[in-house]
Amino acid sequence: MANSSFLLHYYNNRRLSASSRSFFFIPTTLALLTSLFILLYIYTTSNLFTYHHQHHRHIHLKPPLDSSSIARSTHGRSIPISVQNGSINLYTNSQKGAPLVEDGSDGNVGSQRSSRVPFHSTGEFVSYNEVFHDKDIFLEDYKEMNRSFKIYVYPHRRNDSFANALLPVDFEPGGNYASESYFKKVLMKSHFITKDPERADLFFLPFSIARLRHDPRIGVGGIQDFIRDYIFNISQKYPYWNRTGGADHFYVACHSIGRSAMEKAVIVRYNSIQVVCSSSYFLSGYITHKDASLPQVWPRQGDPPNFASSKRKKLAFFAGSINSPVREKLIQVWGNDSEISAHFGRLKTPYADELLQSKFCLHVKGFEVNTARIADSLYYGCVPVIIANHYDLPFADILNWQSFAVIVATLDIPLLKKILKGITFSQYLMLQRNVLEVRKHFQWHLSPVNYDAFYTVMYELWLRRSSTRVPLSASADFNG
Ligand SMILES: *[C@@H]1O[C@H](CO)[C@@H](O)[C@H](O)[C@H]1NC(C)=O
Ligand SMILES: *[C@@H]1O[C@H](CO)[C@@H](O)[C@H](O)[C@H]1NC(C)=O
Ligand SMILES: *[C@@H]1O[C@H](CO)[C@@H](O)[C@H](O)[C@H]1NC(C)=O
Ligand SMILES: *[C@@H]1O[C@H](CO)[C@@H](O)[C@H](O)[C@H]1NC(C)=O
Ligand SMILES: *[C@@H]1O[C@H](CO)[C@@H](O)[C@H](O)[C@H]1NC(C)=O
Ligand SMILES: *[C@@H]1O[C@H](CO)[C@@H](O)[C@H](O)[C@H]1NC(C)=O
Repeated sequence: MANSSFLLHYYNNRRLSASSRSFFFIPTTLALLTSLFILLYIYTTSNLFTYHHQHHRHIHLKPPLDSSSIARSTHGRSIPISVQNGSINLYTNSQKGAPLVEDGSDGNVGSQRSSRVPFHSTGEFVSYNEVFHDKDIFLEDYKEMNRSFKIYVYPHRRNDSFANALLPVDFEPGGNYASESYFKKVLMKSHFITKDPERADLFFLPFSIARLRHDPRIGVGGIQDFIRDYIFNISQKYPYWNRTGGADHFYVACHSIGRSAMEKAVIVRYNSIQVVCSSSYFLSGYITHKDASLPQVWPRQGDPPNFASSKRKKLAFFAGSINSPVREKLIQVWGNDSEISAHFGRLKTPYADELLQSKFCLHVKGFEVNTARIADSLYYGCVPVIIANHYDLPFADILNWQSFAVIVATLDIPLLKKILKGITFSQYLMLQRNVLEVRKHFQWHLSPVNYDAFYTVMYELWLRRSSTRVPLSASADFNG
C-alpha cells in the first residue's frame, strides 16, 4: 500500500510538470494511472497476497514435501502449505540455519530437479499430535461416502481372452504390487458396485497393469497399445467415456511401469483419475489432486506384532539395493555408521526383527518414490523416515504425515543423524503412538474392514468425484 501511494504521488507530480510541456503525455499518464488503480484494486480485494487458512470441504490442505511440490500444486485446486508462526514449514526437521537450497553442486542428489526454496524452515522439530487434518470432517464424509458412493465396472466375461488382466484374481494377492489386485478384488464384492451406469459416480477401468506386464501376449512393450485399444473399445461400445472424455473414470496401478502406460491414450492421463503407487510430483504423467496416491503394501499375515514389548535399541534401519543416486548418497554418508544401519544387498538377520528393533525405519527413493517400506515400518511399529523428494504421500488429503513420520529432503541426508537425535523421547512416543493409529489405513483385507486401505482409497476417490452428473443426452451434443 505504501509503495502504491508513493507511486501515485510520483506520477501525479510527473503529470503536472509534463502537462505544461505537452498534452501528448496525458493519455499515457492516464493509462498508467488506470493500470495503477487496477493493481491497487486487485491488491486490496484479492486474497492472492494473503494466506487464508480456509476450511476446504473436499480437498484438504496437505503438508508439502518440498518446494517443487508447492510450485506445482499452485496449478491445482489448493495450495498445500503448512504454516508455523508465520514461517512456512517445509521439512519436518532441518538443522537450524542449514541452507535449504539445492544449489546443483554437491548437494544436488541425482535426478532430482534442483530448485530454489523461497521459504525458510522453522528449524525445529514440530510435534503434531493430530493424525487427521480434520477428524470430524473425515468421519462425517466417510459415512456419507459409505452410504451413497457408487462405482460402475466395465463388464467382462470369464471367457474374455484378457480375463486374466480384466477380472479380479482368484487367489489372495501378495508381494510388492498386491495393492492393485487387492483393490479390484475387494471392490468387485463390495456394496459400492452398481450394475446401473446411471447411478454411478465413477467408472472403473478394470485393466491390471501388473498382470498385463506378465502376459506374454502383451508384456512391457505392449501395454500402451493395449490401453489405447481398450479405451477405443469402450468408447465405441458404451456412451459413458465420450460423455465426460473419461473424467469420471479411474484405474488403479501399483507397478511403476504404469507411469508410461498411458502414453498412447493420453486422454486417460489428462482426464481420468489415476490411482497409482508411483505418485510423484516429478513425473509429468501424474497430476496432483486429480490423481491419487495408492499405498504400496506388501501384505503380511496375521495381526501386527505387539511392538510395545520389543526393545528398540537401534536408531535407524534401511535395507535395499543401490539403484538410485539417493541411495548412493545414503551409503556414501552412513554406510559404515554404528547407529544408522544401512544394509545393501542380502540381510543376514530377519527383516522383521530389524524393523522391530529400530526406532526409525528409512524409506529411501529407489527407481521410483514408492516402495512397500512405509507400510512395512508402520506394520512393525517403526516410525518411517521418508527420504524421497516429490513423493505425493498416500492419503495426504486425510492424514497429517508429519504426525507419524519424519520427512527429510535428500539434500539433508548428511544431517540425518542430527535430525533423528534431535527428536526428544516424548516426541518419539507421540510419533510412535500415531503410527499405531494410522496403520489400519495401510492394511488390506479380503473382507474389507472399516478404515482399512480399501475404504481409505474409496474415500480418496469419493473426494474426486464430480458433484454434477452429466446427463447422457449431453454427450450427443458433445459428439454432434
Ligand atoms: C508461536 O508463537 C507463539 C507466540 O509468539 C509462541 O507462544 C509459540 O510457542 C510459537 N509456536 C511455535 C511452534 O513456535
Ligand atoms: C460401511 O458400509 C458397510 C456395508 O454396508 C458396513 O458394514 C460398515 O459398517 C459401514 N461403515 C461405516 C463406518 O458406517
Ligand atoms: C463367451 O461366452 C459367451 C456365452 O457365455 C459366448 O456368447 C461368446 O461367444 C463366448 N466368447 C468367446 C470369445 O468364446
Ligand atoms: C478391442 O476390440 C477388438 C474387437 O472386438 C478385440 O479384438 C480386442 O481384443 C479388443 N481390445 C482390447 C484391448 O480390449
Ligand atoms: C465416441 O466418440 C468417438 C470419436 O468421436 C466415436 O467414434 C464413437 O462412435 C463415440 N461413441 C459412441 C458410443 O457414440
Ligand atoms: C566402510 O568400511 C570399509 C572397510 O573398513 C571401507 O572399505 C569402505 O570404504 C567404508 N565405506 C565408507 C562409505 O566409508
